[in-house]
Amino acid sequence: MLSIRSLISAACVLPFVCVSANNGQPSYGGSNCDVSKATISGLPASLAQNSSSPLSPSFIAVALGTQNYTCSAAGNYTNIGAVAELFDISCFYGQKLFDESQDIAIQAWKYAPSGMTPAEFVKQAHVSQWVFGQHFYVPNPNGGNTTNPEWNFVSGNRFNGNPDAYVIAARLASAAAPTGSQDIDWVHLKNVKGSAAQEVYRTDTRLGQPPASCTPGSAPIQVRYSSKYYFLGSTLQ
Ligand SMILES: *[C@@H]1O[C@H](CO)[C@@H](O)[C@H](O)[C@H]1NC(C)=O
Ligand SMILES: *[C@@H]1O[C@H](CO)[C@@H](O)[C@H](O)[C@H]1NC(C)=O
Ligand SMILES: *[C@@H]1O[C@H](CO)[C@@H](O)[C@H](O)[C@H]1NC(C)=O
Ligand SMILES: *[C@@H]1O[C@H](CO)[C@@H](O)[C@H](O)[C@H]1NC(C)=O
Repeated sequence: MLSIRSLISAACVLPFVCVSANNGQPSYGGSNCDVSKATISGLPASLAQNSSSPLSPSFIAVALGTQNYTCSAAGNYTNIGAVAELFDISCFYGQKLFDESQDIAIQAWKYAPSGMTPAEFVKQAHVSQWVFGQHFYVPNPNGGNTTNPEWNFVSGNRFNGNPDAYVIAARLASAAAPTGSQDIDWVHLKNVKGSAAQEVYRTDTRLGQPPASCTPGSAPIQVRYSSKYYFLGSTLQ
């Protein structure tokens, strides 16, 4: 019987990567396509841009990763960060593959061996060369003891080696996922530092929610999720 590990490496578990590989775009995979006219499907009104000249999308990525939670003294989980691997799906905008990319990602990722990190998963699936970037948390660049989410493309397939290819952001607004309470919120964020985007949207979330309660003092947990991220108003060339 095939182990899950060998299934991951044998099959094309992430078709949005394999299709781009087969399309003869070895340098960029699903990226380097103009999505400036793209709209965010199903965006809750409360997350709309507050501007008379809204920013245009520059790149759209799908992520697979974990949301990290710690157990509070009140006995519920508080989000303390996340880690994820990102794939640029800009070139598939308007196609079924684009619409379903977060479902494809979570289906492959949720059955991966427990304890496997997103980085190990992309390595086992032999798709590391198609990775657009990583998502993780960093100390607030403006000081204080808070952390902020970052999306970093410096070691990715498109902006490799470009030290400006990242964005650290802060939350402007969030809204419950239209797909139900099993999925984490959709979020609108604003640039704090970096050139990769002026605004970021997390949309089309799948899973990532913690259990409703926990035992105070218990260890932090990681919950797998997938989503899309829209990066707006990038100044990267
Ligand atoms: C939208 O922008 C206006 C004008 O800058 C500001 O007064 C208002 O507070 C903003 N609303 C939100 C929800 O950010
Ligand atoms: C955790 O429980 C406290 C006390 O009931 C509540 O105020 C808080 O909003 C809860 N936090 C989360 C993340 O649900
Ligand atoms: C989240 O959990 C991952 C392990 O899956 C860990 O590598 C990462 O440092 C954690 N990040 C935060 C901010 O908790
Ligand atoms: C962060 O700073 C605030 C205000 O100074 C303080 O109340 C809080 O306990 C600090 N949190 C941590 C985790 O150090």
